[in-house]
Amino acid sequence: MPSAVGKRVPEQFEPIKSFTKEPLNKSLRASAGSFSDCRRQIPLDVAMLRLRALLAAAIGFGFMTGAPVSQAQASVSASSAAAPLLVNKTHKLPDDYESTVSLITVKNCFGKKFQIERETYEHFLELREDLLKSGIQIELESAYRSVARQRQLIGELRAKEGEEYVKNFAAAPGYSEHHTGLAIDATIVVNGSSVADYYGTQETLYQKMHRKLADHGFILRYPPGKSGVTGYDYESWHIRYVGKETAQKIFLQGLTLEEYLAGGEETSAMKSKYGSAEYWTRRNPGGDTIMDESGLENLQETFRKKCAALVNLADYPDAFSREELRKKIASAKSAFWYFEPEEVYENGVLLPRARYWQVVDNCAFNALPERQAVRFALTTTRANLRYLPASVGWYEDSYDTHYDLLQGTAVNPAEPLAVLAESRDKRFCFVETRNFSGWLDKDAMVFTNREKWMEYAAPKNFLVITDDSKKIQVDDNLSLTFQMGSRLPLRRPAPQADGTWLVSVPVDANGTFREETVRIPADDTVHKGWLPYSENNLVRQAFRFLGDLYGWGGLEEGVDCALFTADVYRSVGINFPADAEEQMLAMPVSLDLEKMSEKDKFAAVTKLRPGDLLFTDGHVMMYLGRDDKGEPHIIQAGSSRWFPGEGEEGGPLKYYTRRVTVDDLRWFKGSEKTCLELIINAGCVRADKKAED
Ligand code: DAL
Ligand code: ZN
Repeated sequence: MPSAVGKRVPEQFEPIKSFTKEPLNKSLRASAGSFSDCRRQIPLDVAMLRLRALLAAAIGFGFMTGAPVSQAQASVSASSAAAPLLVNKTHKLPDDYESTVSLITVKNCFGKKFQIERETYEHFLELREDLLKSGIQIELESAYRSVARQRQLIGELRAKEGEEYVKNFAAAPGYSEHHTGLAIDATIVVNGSSVADYYGTQETLYQKMHRKLADHGFILRYPPGKSGVTGYDYESWHIRYVGKETAQKIFLQGLTLEEYLAGGEETSAMKSKYGSAEYWTRRNPGGDTIMDESGLENLQETFRKKCAALVNLADYPDAFSREELRKKIASAKSAFWYFEPEEVYENGVLLPRARYWQVVDNCAFNALPERQAVRFALTTTRANLRYLPASVGWYEDSYDTHYDLLQGTAVNPAEPLAVLAESRDKRFCFVETRNFSGWLDKDAMVFTNREKWMEYAAPKNFLVITDDSKKIQVDDNLSLTFQMGSRLPLRRPAPQADGTWLVSVPVDANGTFREETVRIPADDTVHKGWLPYSENNLVRQAFRFLGDLYGWGGLEEGVDCALFTADVYRSVGINFPADAEEQMLAMPVSLDLEKMSEKDKFAAVTKLRPGDLLFTDGHVMMYLGRDDKGEPHIIQAGSSRWFPGEGEEGGPLKYYTRRVTVDDLRWFKGSEKTCLELIINAGCVRADKKAED
């Protein structure tokens, strides 16, 4: 098999019938005009609509053919409230199944025919449409397969690929999920051809598809790292329809269908005993001891001395010289230095050098006055601090939509901003917050005077958001999202008679500052003042994020590794930098583990306290403690991990998990190295103790 095709069951093993395997351009020319949607000159969405219309017409006019179908019979409901049908190496297809499934016959964009269960197909079209919005075209490559067809397929595969391949990738006749009509092998089509990026060391298009599956009732049936459970190696293309509700549960808990049907208790990081704050706080009986307030203040001072990004807003300067401003603006821009414009994509195309310089020019370095008075403002929404004054994303690959290289960090609403400069196009301000500097869209902020600003920068009484994320309805038209650790000034120091807190929320009333008074129910999603700083509170706060989606620099309403730890510590009143490396450099107590042997690293880790931080290069995780077998565990907002041996030709696979999870230290942070092996540093946020105590 050509290596570009990887390990997947290739298309030519599918029933060929009247469709001879021809070079793509030939088969396109040969195919009926109405199904030539793969041709690149037809916009994908138009093609999609056409395909849908044709299929709808076909379904409506009873054009569909299929295996024994009896419409009168109660067909197998793909998404019924009953448990989803399990077909695997030990669960044969029920004998009477094929007579109950409602199969329809459809064609993919290459004109190839498939049989598939009706509801599954409807949701496949929905998934397809959704993915087209992000420029990804998926097509059927295989759907229903009869037992006879599976037998034939296995014969072909055995001859071509050998027994080992058959064992890992092909089900025995009668034991294939494809018999159900609910399983699909999807292929991704780019410019009229299937793409073979089934395995990746980058985020593949298939992996992007995986994250959309649950929204449309599908699951990735054979995920990486789970062959011990599913019986099959990772198949990036094989998806299974189970209905939306079930799919969401399976996706969010990181389960396989087998684990879900078994209750998921042991294997789900979210539902196992390790997946609860109680498990870890119970193991730390002294963990509710509270650090005193003077300790906290001294600690913050130590932090600030070590990290230039941390600013004491209470004594913020009134003005800056041109040189000081240039330095600040250049330092934000320099976070971008390692990318050449030619290596960056904007809207799917390589960034022209002129466009790059246009954005750099928008910083308006030359327009900076000799001395600039600081202006004061507040954010009016959750917003993005950018390294350069541009809202559009710049990405390392043309299909990426997640890792925007211009994204510094996200800020919550009601966050105090020192405004230092304005972009040439007047759409952005260069601002400094308590822990970050960058360019902010002017639509996301409102100017006010320093006195009012101070009520937000150093409020006497304030309410802290303690949930991972909380929506607050300001008025009929305005709902704001606040992440953990945001704070709002309290209008009254005590709750109202009706059990609500009264807070002030800054709003932009046609360009002028206004304050709305908002009632917030006094429940456990908020707390008056910072939460007491204790190890167990850090653990409890961290677990509020468990299962949440990862968002690079706080994009997509998520947290990345450093925002996660920053938000957790912010809820106990400790201001962290927003970047993992800066967090490492700023830790009041820092242990260099880089040169240690794995054994010594393990020993050092086990001496840490819950809430302490562990660093690999550019990544931060929070330590939880040791489980009952002595294994150290962490909680982290993780972007990706490696699965050695599960990639192309048995090589390493990089899989984008993009989730807050609890893990031990044995997972592969690198293609060949475990997290433990890659740990370089541990940090402790203690003014009064050493980690070794
Ligand atoms: N490739 C899957 C396991 C099947 O043959 O059903
Ligand atoms: Zn399959």
